[in-house]
Amino acid sequence: MHIWALLLCCLAGISQRVQGGESCQLMVKSTQGSVYQAGDLVIGGLFPVHVKAPQPDLEFRGLKDSASCEIFHQRAYRWLQAMIFAVEEINNNTNFLPNFTLGYLVSDTCLAERTTLLAAMSMVTGQEANLSASECGSVPTVPVVVGDPRSSASIIVANTIGVFNIPMVSYLASCGCLSDKTRYPLFFRTMPSDAAEARAMAELLRLMGWTWVGLVSADDDFGRFGIQMLMDALRGTEVCVAFHEVIPKDYAKMTMQKIVDTIRTSTATVVVAFIIDLDAKALFDEVVEQNVTDKQWVANDAWITYSVLSVPRYVPSLAGTLGFALRRADIPGLGSFLARLHPSSSNSDPFVKELWESLFGCSFSAGLGMKVCSGSEVIGIGESLYSDVSQLRITYNVYKAVYAIANAVREMLACEPGKGPFLEGWCPDVWSLQPVEIAHYLKKVNFSTPLKERMHFNRNGDPPASYDIINWHVAAQGAGEFVTVGHFLSDRFHINMEAVLWGGGSGKEVPVSVCSSPCPAGTRRAVQRSRPVCCFDCLPCADGDISNKTGLLECVRCPERFWSNPTHTVCVPQQVDFLSYSDTMGIILSLVSALGTALTAATFATFLYYRHTPLVRANNSEVSFMLLVSLKLCFLCALAFIGQPVAWSCMLRHTLFGISFVLCISCLLSRTVVVLVAFRSTLPGETLMRYVGPAQQRLGISICTLVQVLICALWLTLAPPQPAERNTMGTWGPKIILECAMGSVVAFSLVLGYMGLLACLCLLLAFLARTLPDNFNEAKLITFSMLIFCSVWVTFVPAYISSPGKYTVAVEIFAILASSYGLLFCIFAPKCFIIFMRPEKNTKKHLMAR
Ligand SMILES: *[C@@H]1O[C@H](CO)[C@@H](O)[C@H](O)[C@H]1NC(C)=O
Ligand SMILES: *[C@@H]1O[C@H](CO)[C@@H](O)[C@H](O)[C@H]1NC(C)=O
Ligand SMILES: *[C@@H]1O[C@H](CO)[C@@H](O)[C@H](O)[C@H]1NC(C)=O
Ligand SMILES: *[C@@H]1O[C@H](CO)[C@@H](O)[C@H](O)[C@H]1NC(C)=O
Ligand SMILES: *[C@@H]1O[C@H](CO)[C@@H](O)[C@H](O)[C@H]1NC(C)=O
Ligand SMILES: *[C@@H]1O[C@H](CO)[C@@H](O)[C@H](O)[C@H]1NC(C)=O
Repeated sequence: MHIWALLLCCLAGISQRVQGGESCQLMVKSTQGSVYQAGDLVIGGLFPVHVKAPQPDLEFRGLKDSASCEIFHQRAYRWLQAMIFAVEEINNNTNFLPNFTLGYLVSDTCLAERTTLLAAMSMVTGQEANLSASECGSVPTVPVVVGDPRSSASIIVANTIGVFNIPMVSYLASCGCLSDKTRYPLFFRTMPSDAAEARAMAELLRLMGWTWVGLVSADDDFGRFGIQMLMDALRGTEVCVAFHEVIPKDYAKMTMQKIVDTIRTSTATVVVAFIIDLDAKALFDEVVEQNVTDKQWVANDAWITYSVLSVPRYVPSLAGTLGFALRRADIPGLGSFLARLHPSSSNSDPFVKELWESLFGCSFSAGLGMKVCSGSEVIGIGESLYSDVSQLRITYNVYKAVYAIANAVREMLACEPGKGPFLEGWCPDVWSLQPVEIAHYLKKVNFSTPLKERMHFNRNGDPPASYDIINWHVAAQGAGEFVTVGHFLSDRFHINMEAVLWGGGSGKEVPVSVCSSPCPAGTRRAVQRSRPVCCFDCLPCADGDISNKTGLLECVRCPERFWSNPTHTVCVPQQVDFLSYSDTMGIILSLVSALGTALTAATFATFLYYRHTPLVRANNSEVSFMLLVSLKLCFLCALAFIGQPVAWSCMLRHTLFGISFVLCISCLLSRTVVVLVAFRSTLPGETLMRYVGPAQQRLGISICTLVQVLICALWLTLAPPQPAERNTMGTWGPKIILECAMGSVVAFSLVLGYMGLLACLCLLLAFLARTLPDNFNEAKLITFSMLIFCSVWVTFVPAYISSPGKYTVAVEIFAILASSYGLLFCIFAPKCFIIFMRPEKNTKKHLMAR
């Protein structure tokens, strides 16, 4: 800062009131050239017409004629002329600023901070014009400046003339730092900030699905801030950075080789380069040397239209490069305006002669070994860097900057006294404009340029981010060609995808740059440990979860009553499952049940046919028939357990089952009691047998059965069994089991318990009677059958509880069938055997013999 303080001291003395005089006069002239045109408002302009400043004189011993700047920059001179053009165009349009003319004072900055500051300061302090004494020092001659193109110089100028509240409108300074309005409150620009470009790049990466990208940045503020802002913009998106390389400023061969090695070996196809053109040249020299041709490059505006790289040597590596460039515009009339210059007609412009010398390679001073300029040369539009109006990008920014200022002035002129923006509705005095007033109006401008582009400054003084999307095609002779394939306007891409030639040899296909391919449907992401989030494995969804699209992060749970299909891609309704007649198990069980029924019927028929034989008559044949009927019911009730449970079948199942088995056991019980009474009674048979006659047997059986009927009736009325759904795995699963809920577990237990009680009683009595010499070992058979019956039902309980899903019902049916077959075979098989095989034993004689 020391140097700047000294300079300021110096400059403050440049313009001084002439001692005792009535006017102001410049004491010191700036060393650089400038072009001046008077006007009601003089706009300053800073352009690097030369790119080499002389060495500074740091002695400060007195005023010296310093050497002048060197190396004429045709392109920057075109920018300068564009500013003059814009001012003239505005002045020519009498409707735009009625009765008001704009002037300009454009100076050469020589592309150095020191000379830039000098130029800016001399603008502020005054001109060679004679000012009357009253005006001296009242207003700076130039209250607003267009420039500077460079971020670093802009920072210095803004810091310095910002002290005097003089606003600046830069046309090329892109540093994101200049958006900081606490430090640069009066800095505006028509150049989008690097932050906007970084955001646009991030958006491009996201749009193309490039989630695995490499970054290359320059080793300067531009590259560092640019990459930093790109990374900020990428935070929270799905894009991950595969590598980040920094290009050293000395372009050391070893480092460059290493950098390109990293790029070549990386799996990232897309490489974003946030660098300036010279870095790009160094980088791509090495890239070409190492034959890296499989990368898609994404360029920032600094090198996307760098024509040095469009020669055939670079094309195999760089074809398909995609990047952002400033908006290009065609400014009508500018070409002929540029061509109008002639050394003889532009006396006030100190640069025209140099331009002439630079354009035509001649010299105005003889004797330098060059041909002497004749003055009859003609500037051809598009024939030189100066007169090339085909790629007006920065030039257009200059044009927009002048229009922004003109529109601010226009607003000021339109101000109605009393309704103005300042204290008590004051309007600015347009004949002596103060810089703060211009700044105030600049903040608010919102206009359409003559080329129909809307333009305003946001809170940070930045313009809306708008870029052209440039794509490198291969032209004839293998050279590169910059083709505009789309635009980026107000945060939106408009890209003609058909027109894009993609890099890395992809041709018409968008290159893929991912660390892991998106997970297919049916799977979810599992991030790999200690790797970026873009690198992941795909794991199948859990049961009951699905992912129906490729690339989903998570699986989603199926809604209620739905379950995932085997591939976990769609939710399918849960299957309703029950033991049906179409199941193998259902078919077998119904066949077995039908067979049992048939066998029972056959036995019934046999007994009916042989009802007069002693064997059938020996015991109360009525009970035998009743037993057979109840057994038949037992077999049939198994069928009620098969098929979809509905209200009636649920009610029928357990009641029919309970009643038919109780009837069955009651018959056996009455048989046993008869045997026991007949052979065990010590009293004369007649007396006791009276109590166990057929009528009493009937009554006993009826009472025993009635009890069960009563229990069932109560069950059905109070809490009947209902069809109900149950899931296989707790509350959730691929299938819903449709079953009969008990309604009342107590009632079910009572039914089973009562049946069990009778069975046990029967077993006990039969066991007591087993040795009695009754007819055909009746008691023994009953004991045996009851043993089978009891053991079946004792094993039933644990099997019933532990069997899954619909098999609980199958277990119950199995128990029913097994016990029914047990009874049928134990009680009736021996009798049938005798009837058919040993008819000789089926005689009264044989019966009596026992
Ligand atoms: C402005 O008008 C003058 C005189 O008519 C003309 O020579 C000049 O080219 C015009 N300038 C522009 C930029 O239109
Ligand atoms: C411009 O100035 C002229 C003369 O001073 C005057 O007649 C005319 O009305 C002014 N026009 C406007 C729009 O102020
Ligand atoms: C400024 O005005 C003074 C007195 O009117 C005169 O002597 C001087 O030559 C003028 N300077 C220029 C540069 O016109
Ligand atoms: C690049 O390719 C050229 C010709 O195809 C070959 O001569 C050269 O060795 C290659 N360079 C590298 C680094 O592979
Ligand atoms: C600028 O003006 C246009 C049209 O009048 C309007 O749509 C737009 O919102 C304005 N922009 C700002 C930032 O005020
Ligand atoms: C995927 O599932 C979601 C939510 O379940 C649904 O909105 C979407 O339509 C499904 N997409 C396809 C392709 O099935």
